[in-house]
Amino acid sequence: MRSRRLPSNRYGRFSEDGREFLVTDPRPPRPWVNVIANERVGLVVSHTGSGFSWIDNSQLATVTRWQQDLATDRSGKLLYARDPDDGKVWSLSPAPVWAPLDRAVCRHGIGYTIFETACRGIESRWTLFCDSEDTVELWKLELSNASGRPRRLKIAAFLEWCLGVSPSPRREFGRLFLETWRDPERRAIFARNEMWDVPSARFGHWNMSFPYVGAFASTAPVDAATGDKVAFLGRYGALEAPAALGLEAWREAFGRHEDPIAALRLPVSLASGARIEIGFVLATAASPEETALRIERYGRLEAIDASLARVRDGWERRLSEHRIETPDATLDALVNDWVRYQAISARLWGRCGYYQQSGAFGFRDQLQDSQVWLTIDPERCRRQVRLHAAHQFADGSVYHWWHPLTEQGHVTRMSDDLLWLAFVVGSYVRETGDLSILRDEAPYLDGRATSIEEHVLQAFRRVFGRTSARGIPYIGAGDWNDGLSAMGLEERGESFWLGEFLAGLLSDWAEIAKRSGRPELAQEFAERRARLVESINAHGWDGAWYQRGTLDEGRILGTAGDSVARIFLNTQVWAVLADVAPPDRVKSCLDAVEAHLVTEAGALLLAPAFERPIAEIGYITRYAPGLRENGGVYTHAATWAIAAAAKAKRADLVGRLLAAINPMTKDPELYFAEPYVLPGNVDGPASPHHGRGGWTWYTGSAAWLHRVVAEWVLGVRPEWDGLRLDPCLPPHWDRARAVRPWRGSTWEIDIEIEEARGVEVEVDGKAISGNLIPVPDGPGRRRRVRIRVPPDR
Ligand code: GLC
Repeated sequence: MRSRRLPSNRYGRFSEDGREFLVTDPRPPRPWVNVIANERVGLVVSHTGSGFSWIDNSQLATVTRWQQDLATDRSGKLLYARDPDDGKVWSLSPAPVWAPLDRAVCRHGIGYTIFETACRGIESRWTLFCDSEDTVELWKLELSNASGRPRRLKIAAFLEWCLGVSPSPRREFGRLFLETWRDPERRAIFARNEMWDVPSARFGHWNMSFPYVGAFASTAPVDAATGDKVAFLGRYGALEAPAALGLEAWREAFGRHEDPIAALRLPVSLASGARIEIGFVLATAASPEETALRIERYGRLEAIDASLARVRDGWERRLSEHRIETPDATLDALVNDWVRYQAISARLWGRCGYYQQSGAFGFRDQLQDSQVWLTIDPERCRRQVRLHAAHQFADGSVYHWWHPLTEQGHVTRMSDDLLWLAFVVGSYVRETGDLSILRDEAPYLDGRATSIEEHVLQAFRRVFGRTSARGIPYIGAGDWNDGLSAMGLEERGESFWLGEFLAGLLSDWAEIAKRSGRPELAQEFAERRARLVESINAHGWDGAWYQRGTLDEGRILGTAGDSVARIFLNTQVWAVLADVAPPDRVKSCLDAVEAHLVTEAGALLLAPAFERPIAEIGYITRYAPGLRENGGVYTHAATWAIAAAAKAKRADLVGRLLAAINPMTKDPELYFAEPYVLPGNVDGPASPHHGRGGWTWYTGSAAWLHRVVAEWVLGVRPEWDGLRLDPCLPPHWDRARAVRPWRGSTWEIDIEIEEARGVEVEVDGKAISGNLIPVPDGPGRRRRVRIRVPPDR
């Protein structure tokens, strides 16, 4: 597809193809980072060069140490250069030295980050990534001498071992169990940790070794090495100017009695105009032998290059299959490339951002994220469904989150988590038409294996059992909104949002039951839905919008008479999405959203913000006004608002909300956050920093924005009996194009806004009646679809 220029800002710009962001001024308002991962290992690296690495769990199994400090952002894995002829030192990314550099560009790309620097005639290019599958992080360093004279250099690489739970606040205790050793033959420093301080009963109290061994190695000869932080920094030294850099000989300190790091020094000679390459490998595996094997396998420049080529091909393949093209080049780059990369790399694989090192699977979170696979690799979504089903108890309840590796999970009385299983299975069936997922099996946490269908039905049963006399589900310790954590602790408070969500699921599952030969169940679900919709409309309508719920004591949340939290976004949006609201209420509640919640920064989650803690509502009220769920734009929910606006054919609102959420076009002085990925939240008007983005990368909005734009704005949406073509383009667009796989064919769909009598659809040159393409008989070739939509639709 055509490439068009993307906007730049004062701190950087996008590459021509939109797949790299170049930070050209190293002082943007916040660290702008990349989250690079495969299914097992990963790293976060900021534009300054700070960051950390993990294996299998970014919180419990952090390989290298880092201090979360977004204000200074200068800790992590670092590369230094020193010219022994004049003693000048600089780092090969801005941090930690912050020496004046003639050039300092950080290129965050899809699957890699590159630092390009030039300092005193030495040009460097440092590429960081992890292999597409293996448990190795690889660096490639290219150095060129443009100074016009021969040069000698000493390159020093530094990292600090964590090999355990992060952060490591009790470092003085933790380090007593760490051991490093040098392997000169492999040009490597190895490390292991004989005490893994995980909060899990399963492993005994402080009586388990960290189950991996780390090693850091270079491809080039090493002339000094140390495993002790003080030996490297000097007494009371600093990362900005490590004392060892000025010493001829380093104190070699390894073993079990030091402050464990890995520092390697490499001597480099460069004739005028010469260029060399050096590779580094950070390997982590189950034993010293397996780790050594990886050091050997990847400790050659050809192996590092081949690995990088595989990473690039992998992303190219993954992202090339489902594409959109619209008049807005920024939206295309965001939706096609960045948010899907964000959802897969940071949310599903790394489960990590710079603001949150999680490592855990959120029951509702990663299930929603896994929908990013639906069009391109549905099997992976199906696998995620089985994984989550295996974290459900036999009574239908589920862990709110659980940690892979330790399997430690959080039991709560949150009321919606379990239902996301029904939601995602429904999406899977709608996309693929494949009902066999219902017969996949997964065990309960406390019981035998059973079918996915039974897991879902058990979730429904549990929710049915937690319903008020008025027929509204209880909110318990919170629904999708985690912060409403106290409204229903006594199992009386109700959630109208959960009611709407459930109503939508009941229609999906009535359909699934019908298709899987269970007509009585279909009937039961249809009747339950009808009753639920009636109850919500009878009790939850406030006059101009839907209320949010009730507290245990009966007080209403989200009602016009209140001075704070008068209106909530989610109950308006899901009333539309789940077909709960009759047409007049659709109009009224979306008018209310426009009037009370839509800002230049996006749709607020609620307004006005809570000003003081209200214990009986929950911790949402404890956030400062305008922050996160408390009256900020919660991006995850803001993407749903776009879907509802599109469903209600409010093109103008769709346009406004899409523009508001797009990080690429923001003024970084006000917005602060990365221009290339979505933030979890943007401050609302009650904050003095209205419009400031935060909690970037680690947000469910990434997968959702892709789905909402593809299925609701472009309107190419799989339904039970076919592919619905139902666009609602922003008013200033005259066309859009989608290419997507569906049921074995690739569909190229061109949408044109043109005078027409209603929506007109042609498939392979032939007009069809209506706007639903029936399910094709079998897999096929490329299919061409043209849709004409009249401008007033
Ligand atoms: C966080 C949680 C998510 C929740 C949301 C709203 O993003 O991870 O599960 O739905 O907050 O409270």
